[in-house]
Amino acid sequence: MRASWSSPWLFILAATGSAVGLGNIWRFPYVTGENGGGAFVLLYLFFVFFMGLPILFSEILIGKRAQKNPINAMKSAALESGAGQYWKFIGAIGVLAGCLILSFYSVIAGWCLAYVYDYVTVANLVTSFEEADEKLDYLTNSPIKLITWHTLFMLVTVVIVARGLKRGFELATKYLMPVLFATLLLLVGHAVIVGDFSSSISYLFEPDFSRLTSKTILLAMGQAFFSLSIGMGAIMAYGSYLPTGISVGKCALSIAIADTSVALLAGLAIFPIVFAYGLEPAQGPGLVFVTLNVGFSEMANGRFFGLVFFLLLTIAAWTSSISLIEPGIAWLSEVSEMSRKRASVFLGLTIWLVGLGSVFSFNLWSEFKFIGMNIFEIIEFVSTSLILPFGGMMLVLFVGWFMKRNIVVSELNLKTDSTFTSIFFILMKFLAPLGVLIVLIENSGIRKLVF
Ligand code: TRP
Repeated sequence: MRASWSSPWLFILAATGSAVGLGNIWRFPYVTGENGGGAFVLLYLFFVFFMGLPILFSEILIGKRAQKNPINAMKSAALESGAGQYWKFIGAIGVLAGCLILSFYSVIAGWCLAYVYDYVTVANLVTSFEEADEKLDYLTNSPIKLITWHTLFMLVTVVIVARGLKRGFELATKYLMPVLFATLLLLVGHAVIVGDFSSSISYLFEPDFSRLTSKTILLAMGQAFFSLSIGMGAIMAYGSYLPTGISVGKCALSIAIADTSVALLAGLAIFPIVFAYGLEPAQGPGLVFVTLNVGFSEMANGRFFGLVFFLLLTIAAWTSSISLIEPGIAWLSEVSEMSRKRASVFLGLTIWLVGLGSVFSFNLWSEFKFIGMNIFEIIEFVSTSLILPFGGMMLVLFVGWFMKRNIVVSELNLKTDSTFTSIFFILMKFLAPLGVLIVLIENSGIRKLVF
């Protein structure tokens, strides 16, 4: 018998754990900072609820219906509705994308681990922006250091998934998610007290539409997809352990709301400090690793709060990384002779090896570029800017056009011919896939080639 979640709440919590990760706490604040704040946030919210949510529905629906790993789930969902079995390739590229994303995700998560270690052991915190910058350089210039932390991060991920649903990721979810929420609230509370809260609120929520460009729109959509963990079957894999009789709609909505709240709260934990110490919000990827560090070193009890912050990032990354590797492991252990343990070790090792490419992109191989990108950037671009939107688009197209309408209607508890249902299907059939297609064409540079 296939295992299932002990309660629907645990599924929602685990899927939220997948969604909440480096994307929310590291990437969302710096991308928002670089793109002018409020207007970007507004766009992001639009994409989460109008494009992301339909894909989230689709993934949970297919997984739950099929009770199989994403590749076989796509196949059996397609066959059940009389569509071709080739839909399984959408599952397959999803599994591949998960492995690719994890290969660099683990390297960046390794930085967080390195910072945790640093806050515990170092004698003096950094005192200036230059010093903080040097510190990050010192870490990224050392392949040995990066490999050590990348290895440790992957090791823990593999141990958790190898133990399976109940003793592995359900258990991790139960313990890690409450810690994650508690530390986040602690940090927001602290930032509100010591930081410049009102500037942060106006920065995040007062839109300045003059800052919007087509690039911002693409970024906001990519960020929404990455943050919700959609497009590659991660949530489908989690959904496949759902028992029957659970409302897919409510689950998807709860996950989207929780993920978005955490992204906004992360902004409220970071920007008050950035503004209070006169730091620059538009600092790019270095926002938490460099800028925020300067803030921590200037505040009272900065060592403690810095430590808590990077611990939060690490935990968020772990609950996400599990979901990136789970589709591959579920597939390997369900279709081959390999046990779950073996499959975890084998896939973990492979991903670890690919991750070395990202490690060396920061040092030994930094000069090695292909169409202007190093290995890390290529892997990130292909997986998150190309495969995720493509996968997401195919998933809504599948549910909108190919899945039997009565299956969708009954799984989502919709009324057969209400206005809401009609609007829902218009969204699934036309608006969501078309929106994603536009982004995909822009992202892949196809438009530049053609026009
Ligand atoms: N959503 C996670 C984050 O915000 C990353 C992630 C985990 C992910 N699983 C995924 C992204 C699946 C895309 C697809 O950091």
